[in-house]
Amino acid sequence: MAAPAHSTGTRAGRHAIRGDDLLQWRRQQLNQGGQAAGLDWLLDLEGGVGWQQLQHLRLHPETLLQLQVPLERLEALWQRHCNGQEPLQYLVGQCPWRDLTLQVAPGVLIPRQETELLVDLALAIWAGAGSPDGPRRWADLGTGSGCLALALALAWPQSQGHAIDRSTEALRQAAANLNSKGLEHRVQLLEGEWWMPLQPHWGALDLVVSNPPYIPRWVWRGLEPVVRDHEPALALVGGDDGLEALRAIASEAARALAPGGWLLLEHHHDQSAAVLELLRAGGLVEVTPHPDLEGQWRFASARRAPEQP
Ligand SMILES: C[S@@+](CC[C@H](N)C(=O)[O-])C[C@H]1O[C@@H](n2cnc3c(N)ncnc32)[C@H](O)[C@@H]1O
Repeated sequence: MAAPAHSTGTRAGRHAIRGDDLLQWRRQQLNQGGQAAGLDWLLDLEGGVGWQQLQHLRLHPETLLQLQVPLERLEALWQRHCNGQEPLQYLVGQCPWRDLTLQVAPGVLIPRQETELLVDLALAIWAGAGSPDGPRRWADLGTGSGCLALALALAWPQSQGHAIDRSTEALRQAAANLNSKGLEHRVQLLEGEWWMPLQPHWGALDLVVSNPPYIPRWVWRGLEPVVRDHEPALALVGGDDGLEALRAIASEAARALAPGGWLLLEHHHDQSAAVLELLRAGGLVEVTPHPDLEGQWRFASARRAPEQP
């Protein structure tokens, strides 16, 4: 936090700077390129100077404040971001997501804000349909950093979770994130293709979430270099039409889910009709689209028909 102007010296690991010097440095960086939102994100996450504090400095530039790291380090990271298009989240090794701070590194997708809604959807669907303790058994197909798995494990401490990925790097990252929250006993990590590692539990999965790769290859080719050249294609590209992974997941769901069990999917903004059709073709019922915060149909839910009494 801001210290008074007459404060002296630095504490261990802290680096003193006057507000006006920091604001001038910030202007210099932005003159060379990059976006203010990105630089302020870096100042916050790596430098420990939040947005409110920056506002305070504009009014009281004489304030002496303490950075978490030397200014040279912030500058080096910002230059790497601007010159090499490296994602800031990889550079600082973390990403805030819901109420969590997740560790992220190259080789694993940076969790996106819209995916937070998949957790809300899972909680809402289960609250309306299931027991208050949560599902007996849930799974996250294509867990990546483990973001969805962590959120569900925290929400449903009584449940057994499974998190699947084909990428060893992703599973390593998910394990680190689960361990950091003491959640490793609630979620089993399994390497393999979508439903395959879950075969011992087929017919007993009460709720399954997935944010699979769904970007058509030709769209991926035109993405910003910060995404296309640095985040794993395995996590992004869903084949030529973007639906390859969604097709694989939807087609096996009725076998793998428990009777009455739910499948919740994230997909591209223009795939809603196709995904709903894949879910119906897979034999699921109560097939429903769900919007994101901008009203785009980005999610779908469906369930295996419950057993008749
Ligand atoms: C869009 S990312 C989602 C990661 C994380 N769930 C999230 O929301 O940030 C898709 C994930 O699916 C994994 N994946 C891709 N193909 C797969 C397959 N055939 N079987 C299992 N996982 C796969 C990728 O490695 C990646 O971690």
